[in-house]
Amino acid sequence: MTLTIDIEPLSSVLGASVRGIDLQKAIDKKTKEVLNRAFVDFSFLCFPDQTLNAKDQLRFANFFGRGDGGVRITRRDSGQRRTGKRGVMFVSNIRKDGKPIGVLPDGEMQFHTDGAHRESPYRATTLYAIKIPSKGGDTLFANLYKAYEALPEKTKNRIEKLVTTCVYDYEAQDRSETVAADPILPHAQHRLVKTHPASGQKSLYLSRLMTQKINEIEPDEGEELLMALFDHAEQPEFIYAHKWNVNDLVIWDNRCLNHARTDFPANEERMLRRYTVSEPNAPETT
Ligand code: SIN
Repeated sequence: MTLTIDIEPLSSVLGASVRGIDLQKAIDKKTKEVLNRAFVDFSFLCFPDQTLNAKDQLRFANFFGRGDGGVRITRRDSGQRRTGKRGVMFVSNIRKDGKPIGVLPDGEMQFHTDGAHRESPYRATTLYAIKIPSKGGDTLFANLYKAYEALPEKTKNRIEKLVTTCVYDYEAQDRSETVAADPILPHAQHRLVKTHPASGQKSLYLSRLMTQKINEIEPDEGEELLMALFDHAEQPEFIYAHKWNVNDLVIWDNRCLNHARTDFPANEERMLRRYTVSEPNAPETT
């Protein structure tokens, strides 16, 4: 039976919604190709009204690369490799016996990209909405192709060959906390301008929460350049705001999008299930 998949753009900046497919069921090779094409073309896909358990979500993540989960790490663990098995993760403000069941801080989070602290960042992230607050808690996605394209030629030339250090502080939601953080937190070096391997397009690769410094430039000058680039990349014309509905499954491309989260009432529960997608040959690091 041939599926009729309906792919509709969500905004003029990025993103599409995909209907006409039940992700509880296995899909054929052709459908996988259609989804992978749409993923590269739109960078963000939302599959509304899906009823999925963790296994279904992991199978979906595997359509796009090596689906994997993560291990919970806190600042106290910095520098120490957790030996726990990678597995399903929740992004949630819910506490059980006083302990968070989720992996990220509560409330607002500045723009970041998943896995920039790894030499091989996550190709993609999938999130499945289980509990959503009555207001706020939107996820904002910023198109880094468009941000790069809109830069003056002079700036493009200036940054073309620069390399940055990106760090992940697992408890930070604001750059002011991250830059002050322990230097043994996981970090990696990345080009400030990258070419997407599937689309061939150039994009900026930087984010306010994770890009700590530009290696080749004196700290003050580097920070000034970074701040100007963050402000540029976070302009509304590059952003799509995803307002969640329960049972949305989304996937986004970390190679060309940044994401951030808006604040939400602390007394309301928010819970999303997360699997990431690694490059097939990436080492199994956190
Ligand atoms: C994330 O930063 O990976 C989670 C985004 C969200 O909670 O909306």
